Amino acid sequence: MALAQHLSIEIRYRQQVDNTREFLLPFLSRSIPLHKGMKVMEIGCGEGGVLLPFIEQGMQVLGVDLNESRIRNATSLCAEAVAQGQATFLYKNVFDQDFLVKYGGSFDLILLKDTIEHIPDQETFIPYLRKFLTKGGSIFFGFPPWRMPFGGHQQICRNKVLGTLPWYHLLPKGLYKGIVKMAGEPQIVVDELMDIKGTGISLGRFERIIRKNDFVVKDRMLFLLNPIYKFKFGWKPIEQAAWLADFPWVRDFFTTAGWYVVGEKNAESAT
Ligand SMILES: C[S@@+](CC[C@H](N)C(=O)[O-])C[C@H]1O[C@@H](n2cnc3c(N)ncnc32)[C@H](O)[C@@H]1O
Repeated sequence: MALAQHLSIEIRYRQQVDNTREFLLPFLSRSIPLHKGMKVMEIGCGEGGVLLPFIEQGMQVLGVDLNESRIRNATSLCAEAVAQGQATFLYKNVFDQDFLVKYGGSFDLILLKDTIEHIPDQETFIPYLRKFLTKGGSIFFGFPPWRMPFGGHQQICRNKVLGTLPWYHLLPKGLYKGIVKMAGEPQIVVDELMDIKGTGISLGRFERIIRKNDFVVKDRMLFLLNPIYKFKFGWKPIEQAAWLADFPWVRDFFTTAGWYVVGEKNAESAT
């Protein structure tokens, strides 16, 4: 059941802007002194709406995405900031050597909002991100844990039942793929669902990668109801109950978003 934001670029952009203004910026400001002139990169920026509120605060932003048409849309939706040199949008793989040479050590804040769950080999990717941080810089990760009711992103299905059915993405891959194909989903949807079955990330695995790579969690919020649902469905965000937020594995089934700010473990002592 494709939702409005799957069909309209403007709706998606507007939801990104509103969600960042109302929830993401206040969350970040709890652990990061946000200020004018800060350098911010969003990996997986889509239409660029997450970055607009940072532009409005006088920050310098770079949006990177592997989807060329979304980068074109971001460039036109944020045209004024692009023309003024305050925003740049690139269709680029951050693993490219020329990208690292140009932007290594450049960013006070890196954002990955609803993106890390699409990126393969997070065990290699997450530590690689430190190459782009300034000393004391931070990384924001926001993602739906893999085992949450719609962690397979099955809401992209055209079929109404499959688009609203929770948790069946946890079935073995062959069976899951068979069900989606039998329901007549187009190949592009089947491929996307199978991709995310390979890359989806749990809260526990994410936190293990962070610890193993000498990052620290500066702040964390887990949500029973993801803040973006306010703009998609009119539902107010609900933070996860404290007892469940620390209940390994089980928490993943009922947590629709995990928001984390992480930084280098030794950033303070190194400066
Ligand atoms: C669900 S969208 C999120 C867009 C936006 N950040 C938001 O919160 O609405 C995920 C985006 O990540 C991009 N993406 C996936 N893998 C990527 C990668 N390795 N590097 C850069 N972007 C990537 C996709 O093209 C897509 O635009």
